[in-house]
Amino acid sequence: MRLPGLGGWSDDPLWSYVYPWLVEHDRVGRVAWRAATGSDLSLLHAAAAEIGTLPRGARVLDVPAGSGVALRGLRPGQGLDYVAADISPTMLARTRASAVRLGVADQVTTTCADVGALPFADASFDLVVTLTGLHCFPDPGRALAEMARVLAPGAVLTGSSLFTDAGPRYAPLRRVGTRAGVLGPMCTSAEAVAWLRRSGCRDVDLTLHGGAGYFRARKDDAR
Ligand SMILES: C[S@@+](CC[C@H](N)C(=O)[O-])C[C@H]1O[C@@H](n2cnc3c(N)ncnc32)[C@H](O)[C@@H]1O
Repeated sequence: MRLPGLGGWSDDPLWSYVYPWLVEHDRVGRVAWRAATGSDLSLLHAAAAEIGTLPRGARVLDVPAGSGVALRGLRPGQGLDYVAADISPTMLARTRASAVRLGVADQVTTTCADVGALPFADASFDLVVTLTGLHCFPDPGRALAEMARVLAPGAVLTGSSLFTDAGPRYAPLRRVGTRAGVLGPMCTSAEAVAWLRRSGCRDVDLTLHGGAGYFRARKDDAR
């Protein structure tokens, strides 16, 4: 049974306002993030910060872009080709509004797409960022395979997610999210690592922190 009043992603749910607000408000966000997920918000910020290290002309895929939380890593005038993809047009409108507010709209294009069937060529991105998205997808294994497919050889995939092996303390959080319609089947951290390796990634690093996990992997040069 779905919890009333919250809604799935296409309904622009309440959580989609609370979450970006927390991420953007360091002090309150840090405390609330720790209380809700047992994790450190700076790890999420660090994943987004990788965007700011890329050279002019580099191509980034942010999926799911959601409210555009990862845009905090993109600098005005950096000269990136930043593709923000999400299955929800409502959320993409929020990404566009964030890009304007942050002064990076000239670098950002939005694409309505299912992460399970990305409309991009193989090896076409220099970085893929996937913040707090994997736990929402209907097929997380398929999503990781697609994200790895579009990575150029040597390029990095970085992201965060809730994982089902993160401990019983976070089971209520996962249950509420599932009943609210904003979480998918999710996966264990070991499954995510195995799927990334099977999809041609090496140097796979996944660290559980509280109820969340933060991962980083590099596409094999040989692929
Ligand atoms: C927690 S939110 C997004 C997080 C986003 N990275 C951010 O930080 O704001 C999850 C997002 O996943 C999107 N989503 C859910 N299923 C999807 C799918 N199959 N393909 C692409 N996006 C999807 C939702 O529309 C929603 O915007």
